[in-house]
Amino acid sequence: MNAGFLGVGHFAPEKVLTNKDLEKIVDTSDEWIRTRTGIEERRIASEDMDTSDMALRAAEEALKDANLEAKDLDMIMVATVTPDTPFPSVATMLQHRLGANKVAAMDLSAACAGFMYGVIAAKQFIETNAYKNILVVGVEKLSKITDWSDRNTCVLFGDGAGAAVIGPVSEGKGILSFELGSDGTGGPHLYQTPEDTLFMNGREVFKFAVRQMPESSVYVVKKIGLSEQDVDYLVPHQANIRIMEAARQRLGIPEEKMSTAVKRYGNTSSASIPIALSEDVKAGKIKENDLVVLVGFGGGLTWGAVALRWGK
Ligand code: UT7
Repeated sequence: MNAGFLGVGHFAPEKVLTNKDLEKIVDTSDEWIRTRTGIEERRIASEDMDTSDMALRAAEEALKDANLEAKDLDMIMVATVTPDTPFPSVATMLQHRLGANKVAAMDLSAACAGFMYGVIAAKQFIETNAYKNILVVGVEKLSKITDWSDRNTCVLFGDGAGAAVIGPVSEGKGILSFELGSDGTGGPHLYQTPEDTLFMNGREVFKFAVRQMPESSVYVVKKIGLSEQDVDYLVPHQANIRIMEAARQRLGIPEEKMSTAVKRYGNTSSASIPIALSEDVKAGKIKENDLVVLVGFGGGLTWGAVALRWGK
């Protein structure tokens, strides 16, 4: 039995912070941000909207899209590095607020690769027949750990949530291969400081990402005996258009076959892949039977990728 996507959903807070707005906060320019990152604007959650509030909205949309109710869920996993509190988990808050049965619920921490870790973990429970429908959410309120005086990082990040219901799909559909990995020697390049702000050595993370994203994308496709040209759509972690372009060019697929949500949301860490996926599915850019590659990387360092055949 294969595991695949039964439904997807996303939520982004209303408040838009443009590059022009950032020019008033730090020594930067719209031109620098656009050319170095591809980001035009990002969303920022209000004071009274926490991580679990955004997660709930994305989860509700994913359940609706899957034609399922909360009581149909067998497990809830939330990938986040910005939970409301270290514990209880955002996943248990969702269990309660969605009105799900008293099912397994946990948060997982793999930074920007978190959603990939969640989806691939869900696949194992489903393919061993342990569980049927698993809600996986990627959600971040990065604005609460952003150092608004550091132009190296504050222009990059945004808030938001994406969700998917993973469950059994018919033969030949769903997640066909995956790769997960980590390299803790890169930990000092991206972390939360004791002052609770985000530190990043951008150049080092960039070097790692332009190597890892193309490599993982090709690996998952080759693993199922297909080649780069067979890929119909690429949803890479939306961190920087230049890194995403490296993966697209390595696969040799045209521009319109890659998500570019980064322009409008910036880097939303674990939420970036499910937000982009949900938007592009709803816009009809991803169609039944398309071979889709999802690929993420992040702090840890961590990475994860899947090749999947879209549809139920
Ligand atoms: O999801 C988590 C993973 N994180 C990432 O994927 C981030 C990976 N890294 C990157 O995306 C890029 O390295 C950045 C976008 C962070 C930086 O781009 P870059 O082309 O690597 O620039 P740089 O770090 O080499 O900096 C070039 C110059 C520096 O000035 P000097 O030292 O050459 O005088 C920076 O101080 O740009 C300066 N700079 C800025 N200038 C205007 C850095 N940030 C800004 C800014 N506005 N916001």
